[in-house]
Amino acid sequence: MVKVDLTGASAFWGENTPDFSAARKAHEALCDGSCRGNDFTGWLKLPETVENTELSRIVACGRRIRESSQVLVVVGIGGSYLGARAAYELLGRREGGVELLFAGNGLSADALMDTIERLGNRDFSVNVVSKSGTTLEPALGFRIFRSLLEKKYGRDEANKRIYATTDARKGALKGSADVNGWESFVVPDDVGGRYSVLSAVGLLPMAAAGYDVEKLIAAAKASFVTLNNRCDCNSAWQYAAARQRLRSMGKEIELLACYEPSFRMMAEWWKQLYGESEGKEGLGLFPASVEYNADLHSMGQYVQDGPRHLFETVVSFERPAHSYAVPFDESNTDGLNYVSGHDLNEIAAIACAAVKEAHIAGGVPNIGISVGARDEEGFAELVTFFELACAISGLMQGVNPFDQPGVEAYKKNMFRMLGEWK
Ligand code: PA5
Repeated sequence: MVKVDLTGASAFWGENTPDFSAARKAHEALCDGSCRGNDFTGWLKLPETVENTELSRIVACGRRIRESSQVLVVVGIGGSYLGARAAYELLGRREGGVELLFAGNGLSADALMDTIERLGNRDFSVNVVSKSGTTLEPALGFRIFRSLLEKKYGRDEANKRIYATTDARKGALKGSADVNGWESFVVPDDVGGRYSVLSAVGLLPMAAAGYDVEKLIAAAKASFVTLNNRCDCNSAWQYAAARQRLRSMGKEIELLACYEPSFRMMAEWWKQLYGESEGKEGLGLFPASVEYNADLHSMGQYVQDGPRHLFETVVSFERPAHSYAVPFDESNTDGLNYVSGHDLNEIAAIACAAVKEAHIAGGVPNIGISVGARDEEGFAELVTFFELACAISGLMQGVNPFDQPGVEAYKKNMFRMLGEWK
């Protein structure tokens, strides 16, 4: 279960505490379908939906990919790839799982060549993920990897190695999948890209990578039940209400920090979730992220001493997977024998407490978020918690947290300019 610690922020708001009754109202409107964007709340039921429809096929296809391939190339952009990539970095490689490579999230020929080089001569399959089926970056990425598949295996075998995750009915990708007989999975109509990680969008790559997606979905289901609690003790309310309170005090930037380097892509997933859900109508916190301790030596100066327009949200894991005791050194030339025998985790906890104290003293409110471990359960709990808190926070802010009208502007220009080649 995710826990939220607001003690590092409370001194900043004093008597004027976060508005839990507004969080309750937003939560209720979300659940009774009266909120803005109410046709995009299917993610709340996604664990059940996927369990009742596609989960066993996802597991079977994950096995098939592992049997036939050493690599799965996941082609998608934004919400169509960040969740799977976040899980892959956070949970790490599993024995027996394929390596995941990600493509179609940009138009850089250099990045594409790096990916092709990393793939090498290994056996591979492709999972193309696009809800609309028309997004240019993944469509081009898929065209390229499909041609590589066909060159290596011939058209018939290539078709058996392509897995398409897209809309149930519409879009160019759906049409191609039907014509070519590709194994297909659905992004439900009422689930937007950035809320789709618990559908086949995230689950198929995770299954191929060897993660226990059934356990993950069971944990997500349980977490949504816990998060449905209508009380001030609801961690999603606490986080949503705290960040809206801090925004109302002029804090403009939320810095998501974690002391685990494997959290880097999870922070990218979080940035999209919050940036795209709240950054509209001239409103919204700017979601930024740092990796501590590394960034304490690059961004630490700014956080400690720069403009006081930010607050910090620090994610921690209660049970690290490993421990490592600092060795004793006879010569003690570095003078560090006083910490020898101590676990690195103990030292990290002290560093974390020291940073918190310094940043609060420097005028940076601190929200703490903790979860059990870097495993399937921890991942599911973080995803469900952040998704629900995001929806509540966006509704408290008065925007529709499920649309992204601003993303269309560059696409319109790009297609107009490309259209000149026709
Ligand atoms: O959250 C979103 O809706 C976006 O990030 C989309 O996932 C992204 O633009 C990719 O779109 P599509 O899946 O239609 O290719």
